[in-house]
Amino acid sequence: MYFLYTILAALSFYYVLKWMKRRRYFTELQRLDGKTALITGGNSGIGKETAIALARRGARVIIACRDSDKAVKAVRDIKLKSHSLNVLHMELDLANLRSVKDFCTRFLHSEKRLDILINSAGMPSVLDWTDNGFSMCFGVNHLGHFLLTNLLLHRLKECAPSRVVTLTCSIYKYQKLNFQDLNYNLLPFFTYCRSKLANIYFSQELARITEGKGVTSYAVHPGFVQSGWTCHYSFLFRMLMTVIMWMFFVPCEVGAQTVVYCAVSDEAAKHNGGYFVDCRPASLRPFARDAGVAKKLWEASERMVKLA
Ligand SMILES: NC(=O)c1ccc[n+]([C@@H]2O[C@H](COP(=O)([O-])OP(=O)(O)OC[C@H]3O[C@@H](n4cnc5c(N)ncnc54)[C@H](OP(=O)(O)O)[C@@H]3O)[C@@H](O)[C@H]2O)c1
Repeated sequence: MYFLYTILAALSFYYVLKWMKRRRYFTELQRLDGKTALITGGNSGIGKETAIALARRGARVIIACRDSDKAVKAVRDIKLKSHSLNVLHMELDLANLRSVKDFCTRFLHSEKRLDILINSAGMPSVLDWTDNGFSMCFGVNHLGHFLLTNLLLHRLKECAPSRVVTLTCSIYKYQKLNFQDLNYNLLPFFTYCRSKLANIYFSQELARITEGKGVTSYAVHPGFVQSGWTCHYSFLFRMLMTVIMWMFFVPCEVGAQTVVYCAVSDEAAKHNGGYFVDCRPASLRPFARDAGVAKKLWEASERMVKLA
């Protein structure tokens, strides 16, 4: 009897977890033949699953990665899983503004189209500095993508209608931006929250700036995902997170659903500048919808990356 109770308890626990992790799948299969998608951080996690989904729909997929060994392996895997040969990688280190500029020069020289830009690469909560002296989270997650998108904006406009999808996180709500200290680098979790809030403002301001020019912009919270982000932490933390992730986080393929939805679906296109969770528009805290702050961050970012 005792054995039976244990089995029943284990089964109930399993199904409760499964129920908690239920998510929508984006099942529409619009073809993307003739279109080009660029995905930062496409060698792992959500970026890689997004690359597979877009390549499967016929898009030419370019993954922009900092480590060419990992990129080569990822390209092989993406080709295999998507049954597409139209996948390649290019070198990009978002922690180095020179690398971002060089990447854009090479990309604009070799690629005639850019229809979908997925800003997926990201650093989790770590206290480190980029080559240009910015805090690692703010520098990679926001400034690197800010410069990249701006340098490619002309090509996106030429290929209109085109889309930019930027990965953010629902924990943006735990911090606000301090314009006296945008380069804040004290508590790792807070640096990450701020960079993800910056992603939301960036996405909104991009939508405003490109209004009527055929480029639309979306911010996505992919859910909490069993990806490779724990590799930046100690062995003990990784072990702990393996258990927690197995219990509560969703697989990368599920995390990529909302990204693909925003990149492809006609429904998402109606919500330019929107924030999306679980394949549908979601609401933001009022402070994260402040157009004045979004504009101010855009202008500050232009100065920081010397774009103005
Ligand atoms: N996982 C989650 O639960 C979760 C939740 C909310 C939001 N997000 C967001 O989702 C996005 C994707 O994360 P993920 O979960 O898929 O994590 P991931 O598996 O760790 O992927 C992150 C990617 O970013 C790349 N990257 C990091 N620094 C870079 C740099 N300086 N230059 C170029 N590429 C760089 C990594 O390349 P390397 O392989 O070379 O390190 C990797 O390909 C991130 O923006 C993250 O903030 C994730």
